[in-house]
Amino acid sequence: MNVLLLGASGRIGQRIATELLNRGHEVTGVSRSGDIDEINDSDFKAVTGDATDPDDIADLASGHDAVASALGPSENADVETLSGMTKALIEGLRDADVDRLVWTGGAGGLSVGPDTKLIETEDFPEEFLPLASAHIDALEIIREADDLQWSYIAPAALIEPGERTGEYRTADGELVTDEDGESYITMEDFAVAFVDELENGDAIHTQLAVGY
Ligand SMILES: NC(=O)c1ccc[n+]([C@@H]2O[C@H](COP(=O)([O-])OP(=O)(O)OC[C@H]3O[C@@H](n4cnc5c(N)ncnc54)[C@H](OP(=O)(O)O)[C@@H]3O)[C@@H](O)[C@H]2O)c1
Repeated sequence: MNVLLLGASGRIGQRIATELLNRGHEVTGVSRSGDIDEINDSDFKAVTGDATDPDDIADLASGHDAVASALGPSENADVETLSGMTKALIEGLRDADVDRLVWTGGAGGLSVGPDTKLIETEDFPEEFLPLASAHIDALEIIREADDLQWSYIAPAALIEPGERTGEYRTADGELVTDEDGESYITMEDFAVAFVDELENGDAIHTQLAVGY
């Protein structure tokens, strides 16, 4: 597959790029600088692009089989940039006539019980509330784009660099927890789940949670 990856310079994006390349896909990796020195592979091309600009997205997406996103607002940016990037991405995909989108979302919007989302729980860290809300807004925008074959892949509550085991579990819209009640995934195994979905398309129009 020939994949356009937005957020390829980010922590999760680099791991998704590596997983895609190890499976023989071709990857065009977008960042604002166009420099992604961490990835050296003849099937990887680093390009410059601004994910808030639908024209940039349309130009870049054109000719690709699918668009993958590991976009997140940069440290100094307003978290609401995420909604802007989501809208620009959808508009750009439509203009480019590419209809497959696999998106890295947030855990805050996942259900943890009847009528309760993770973000609504007492222990949810206050500092993450704005970003978690921005991810929920982005999901609402994506949900309205049913002309696209979108999949929204939500990480576990805790995701960090670690080992690639190839193991993970998924759930439709519900936080995945282990037998101790912990919700965790390494970025490497999140990338495995992400690329599995990109290849298989089993979770079209689904908020798919990933964890151990
Ligand atoms: N448990 C959770 O819910 C959870 C935990 C961790 C992460 N996440 C989410 O997963 C996503 C990825 O996380 P991460 O830690 O990998 O993020 P990150 O390292 O901060 O990477 C963000 C990526 O977005 C790109 N980007 C930002 N603004 C852009 C723009 N205007 N145009 C083009 N590219 C732009 C950055 O590229 P540049 O090189 O151009 O800056 C970078 O590649 C985020 O949305 C994050 O919120 C969720």
